[in-house]
Amino acid sequence: MTTQPPDVVPESADLILNRDPLLAFELGNDDSLPASSIDQIDLKIRRQDDPFSKPYWQQFRLPCQGKETITALLRKLRNQPVTIDGETVDPVAFDHNCMEEVCGACAILINGKPRMACSALIEEFNGMITLEPLSKFPIIRDLIVDRSRMFAHLKRVKAWITLDGTWETQQPPLRMSPHDVAVNYLYSRCMYCGCCMAACPQYDENQEFVGPATLAQVRLLNHHPLGQYEKTERLHRIMTVGGLSDCGNAQNCVRVCPKEIPLTTAIGELGRAVTWQLFKDLFGD
Ligand code: SF4
Ligand code: SF4
Ligand code: FES
Repeated sequence: MTTQPPDVVPESADLILNRDPLLAFELGNDDSLPASSIDQIDLKIRRQDDPFSKPYWQQFRLPCQGKETITALLRKLRNQPVTIDGETVDPVAFDHNCMEEVCGACAILINGKPRMACSALIEEFNGMITLEPLSKFPIIRDLIVDRSRMFAHLKRVKAWITLDGTWETQQPPLRMSPHDVAVNYLYSRCMYCGCCMAACPQYDENQEFVGPATLAQVRLLNHHPLGQYEKTERLHRIMTVGGLSDCGNAQNCVRVCPKEIPLTTAIGELGRAVTWQLFKDLFGD
């Protein structure tokens, strides 16, 4: 089997590779961020005590600085869970880990939009900020959701490379061109946060659709020299119900991805690959 070059190179590839606003901010190099005079902020948080109870809203007022993140605010609130009416309540449950937009744990809805709380700066918002758990996933408690179905979808499309030692004996050794490495890198940045799933109108607890991030992983692995050995099987798996044909091409996914992963480019490439696979299945290689 030969390595096929990708049909479409995302126009923004170089831009994305050369630009990392979070890193620039951490290094103090980002001149685009204005100095902020915010000293307190109102938070309205959708809460739910357990997976089966009814949701309710609570409002809080907290001291803050504009360059603090939403996660920093939530940590502050955890130590001082007092509502705007002066009532002490249970601390708000939320998820976070890396604090640098890498692990994917802190995805929530901020003013209705799927975002990473650890990279959302308070000064980006005007007035009260509304926080809700990521939609499309079962709620465990407050802002924490159960994203295990995303991982089940990865299993479903065989989103891994089987290492059986073949690669060690391959002659000549398998290589990727710098161009392919650069394009695959874009897709490898996925942290499986679920933002794209939350924005996708086709992705739902009651639907079988595997979702845009899962499809992008199929594209990534099918363009890897080792992943290509199982390319056909992955394509067949997304040719069933819940696969590629369930995408309605609304393009919401690509607009919210915090890593700017070219999801719709991946979906377009997979569309062509699936069509070729159909011909191969019908008429042979
Ligand atoms: S594709 Fe983007 S939005 Fe979707 S899970 Fe990966 S990083 Fe998150
Ligand atoms: S293009 Fe639209 S339907 Fe397809 S995965 Fe993205 S958001 Fe969902
Ligand atoms: S805490 Fe890891 S991505 Fe936000």
